[in-house]
Amino acid sequence: MEVIIQPDSEQASQLAARLVKKIIMEKDRPVLGLPTGNTPLLLYRYLVEMHRKEGLNFSRVVTFNLDEYVGLSPDHPASFHYFMWKHLFSQVNIRPENVHIPDGLASDMEAHCRQYEEEIKVAGGLDIQILGIGTDGHIGFNEPTSSLSSRTRIKTLTEQTRKENATFFGAEENVPYHAITMGIGTILEAKICLLLAFGKKKARAIAQAIEGPVTSMVTASALQFHPRAIILLDEEAASELRLVNYYQWVYEHKPEWQKF
Ligand code: PGA
Repeated sequence: MEVIIQPDSEQASQLAARLVKKIIMEKDRPVLGLPTGNTPLLLYRYLVEMHRKEGLNFSRVVTFNLDEYVGLSPDHPASFHYFMWKHLFSQVNIRPENVHIPDGLASDMEAHCRQYEEEIKVAGGLDIQILGIGTDGHIGFNEPTSSLSSRTRIKTLTEQTRKENATFFGAEENVPYHAITMGIGTILEAKICLLLAFGKKKARAIAQAIEGPVTSMVTASALQFHPRAIILLDEEAASELRLVNYYQWVYEHKPEWQKF
């Protein structure tokens, strides 16, 4: 794992945007796996800025979102469809046919999840999967005890996750109980996994995921198996790591060709 600690979420998100830009510019048909939530908001803002000011071209970009609530239509303000179009897609020149987000209203969920996996494969696999992390250590909606080889499927959300997402729904009772999510096995097949975490409340989950044992109790810990997992943190999210000085030393001595 490559752990990069930046002073704040702005600088960490700038770095993330530079990596995404590099992938978009290098590939003929870049395939991005995207998250929602508070964590990627700054990254999306920087990508929009790069599109406007530097002409970053999204016309060849293909995207697959990590997850979506079951039972919400794409125009529901708390749906991840709505989120993605509001914060990124409507502000760049992406082709709507290249956007993939699980359909929370699919009539045959199992067939839909299989189809989603197939579409990722047909697109050539994910060049990068960007991730946030829940306070319980989840990535996507892979809650504790999710199989570490799981594929796209329906998961039941924990009480903790439903509480934390209540602000998007006005009240906790409005938060759906289920979501479609890429599995840990799906995520681990991305060529690069880039996990972002900001703020003190993520510090415990980050320490467990990076320095704890690999366990389905903290599904982000499965990233320890990934050959190219980059963990990009602000100082607060890094505050419970034991090897902070080592990660900073490694970053300062990174060979030039590895930088982005
Ligand atoms: P957040 O959510 O980005 O809103 O903190 C992350 C997650 O729960 O995966």
